[in-house]
Amino acid sequence: MEKGENGLRVPQHIALILDGNGRWAKKRGLPRTAGHRQGCITVEKTVEDAARLGVRYLTVYGFSTENWKRSAEEVGALMQLFRYYMKRLLKVAKANNVRVKMIGDRTRFDKDIIEGIGRLESETAGNTGMTFVIAVNYGGRDEITRAVRRMMEAARAGTLSAEEVTEETVASYLDTAGIPDPDLLIRTSGELRLSNYLLWQLAYSEIYITDCLWPDFNREELIRAIRQYDQRDRRFGGADE
Ligand code: IPE
Ligand code: IPE
Ligand code: MG
Repeated sequence: MEKGENGLRVPQHIALILDGNGRWAKKRGLPRTAGHRQGCITVEKTVEDAARLGVRYLTVYGFSTENWKRSAEEVGALMQLFRYYMKRLLKVAKANNVRVKMIGDRTRFDKDIIEGIGRLESETAGNTGMTFVIAVNYGGRDEITRAVRRMMEAARAGTLSAEEVTEETVASYLDTAGIPDPDLLIRTSGELRLSNYLLWQLAYSEIYITDCLWPDFNREELIRAIRQYDQRDRRFGGADE
């Protein structure tokens, strides 16, 4: 792997669970939405920082299949923010040669949001720098369930047989088809769980948890996570050489 800035071995793919927007706002006596707004600014900055550090893929958990359980007010505010930040993101992506891709079941969103997602993907498809993957209405179990459904449809159509199904086949039916598995998972605000994130893809990723609340996350925090990753002895089930 390439040694990048500061002589650091930069992970090819970083997956991020951005958590703690609500707590950040609460600490300041602000509504949760204020935390989400600040969190969106942090996402923008992190995209730029990661791209400049030489990260090839950055996958961020923006909205889970479970997040619909939040109040209608909070879900509505998140959708509004999403609308606004999709436009900003297009500019950030263009300025940084970043390709944007969304994973998750987008069919549940309003029509204008679905169109906005399509536009973001198509207008940045030719960019050759970092790939920024946003997981929206994403759940690992939902992704695997949708994949199984499509595999069974292919079997019924006669284009896939049980004997042909390998791990590679399954991976090719996931939303992340063609994207290498994350090397490093970062979760902010101290929670020690996966919350239904990339259940298949994180099988051998290194995990880094920081107490930092997402809106406070910055380049220094990112470098700290990468530095710790750089010092790890990665194993994939084998023994020491
Ligand atoms: C993460 O922050 C953003 C989303 C899940 C959309 P939270 O909203 O989960 O913030 P906390 O965990 O309540 O602090
Ligand atoms: C995970 O955060 C989902 C996203 C970051 C989008 P949550 O705050 O929803 O997860 P839990 O509820 O703490 O597990
Ligand atoms: Mg949370």
